[in-house]
Amino acid sequence: MFEHKSERDYNEKLKIKIEKLKKKREAIIIVHNYQRDEVQDIADITGDSLALSQAAVKTDARVIVFCGVHFMAESAAILNPDKTILLPAKEAGCPLADMITVEKLKALKEKHPGAPVVCYVNTSAAIKAESDICCTSSNAVNIVRSLRDDKKVIFVPDKNLGLYVQSQLPDKEIILWEGFCPTHIKVQEEHIRQAKTLHPDALVIAHPECNSEVLNMSDQITSTGGMIKYINSSDKKKFIIVTESGLFYKLKKDNPDKEFFLPTEQLICPNMKLTTLGWVYHALELMAYKVNVPADIARKAKVSLDRMLKVSGEPSGSAISGV
Ligand code: 13P
Repeated sequence: MFEHKSERDYNEKLKIKIEKLKKKREAIIIVHNYQRDEVQDIADITGDSLALSQAAVKTDARVIVFCGVHFMAESAAILNPDKTILLPAKEAGCPLADMITVEKLKALKEKHPGAPVVCYVNTSAAIKAESDICCTSSNAVNIVRSLRDDKKVIFVPDKNLGLYVQSQLPDKEIILWEGFCPTHIKVQEEHIRQAKTLHPDALVIAHPECNSEVLNMSDQITSTGGMIKYINSSDKKKFIIVTESGLFYKLKKDNPDKEFFLPTEQLICPNMKLTTLGWVYHALELMAYKVNVPADIARKAKVSLDRMLKVSGEPSGSAISGV
């Protein structure tokens, strides 16, 4: 039991206990940019999906505590069959990843024989196993471009990201799937118009999971890691950030002289917020919840992830476009 006077006090005590347990378990804590502020504070590595996949491959730690959502921990498990991968909040899923099934993907492939399948990293291991190559929001355009001999490409499951890739690669025919991120699609043109009226000198930086109308009103379109990189090196002082609000913590920490605005308060991913310091402590104490992928699926899914990591020679978190 802890004796604590306030939530802050409670969190500080938990952080010390987590640090001790982390050493005992020979663990590393990997944290996505959308996680709670206090969870970002205990990270060995924070980043976007690509950076975290790359970090998961490079670590020598025996245990990876993955503070994110299930598909991210699953990717770490696929890339590290000999390590123990823990997802502290068992229920942290991704509705977008659940919007396609293997049966539906197989049916789509039958409709477009010969077309390679690019799957967004926000998918289950089974979908990755059924795909030719994986991508993240950071490298989606480069990955599709890398399929030089294929004019027609199947892209699942995020329709907005697929449309964005199509806009950047007009020579390709991208077969889309009707999936979407329930958080990013809450942003509408009207929110951006209002934010621009309130902050006329701010740049609009949007995640490619937003709808096309929102992306067309944006100055930059990039992954969360790309946003950090772009803003950290920008001379501009004001930014309208069109992605999940967890990103604000690092942006403000890195740039105390800059101002950040959300176009709508609705930009909160409930799944990303399920991980608390309490759950991270619990994960390390009980070695729970272990993420395992059946060997035959993991082997095939690893091919898709490895291909992505190979093609993705660019530094992780790099901006994918300037509009
Ligand atoms: P990033 O790869 O840009 O961090 O995006 C992850 C994600 O799941 C967005 O909803």
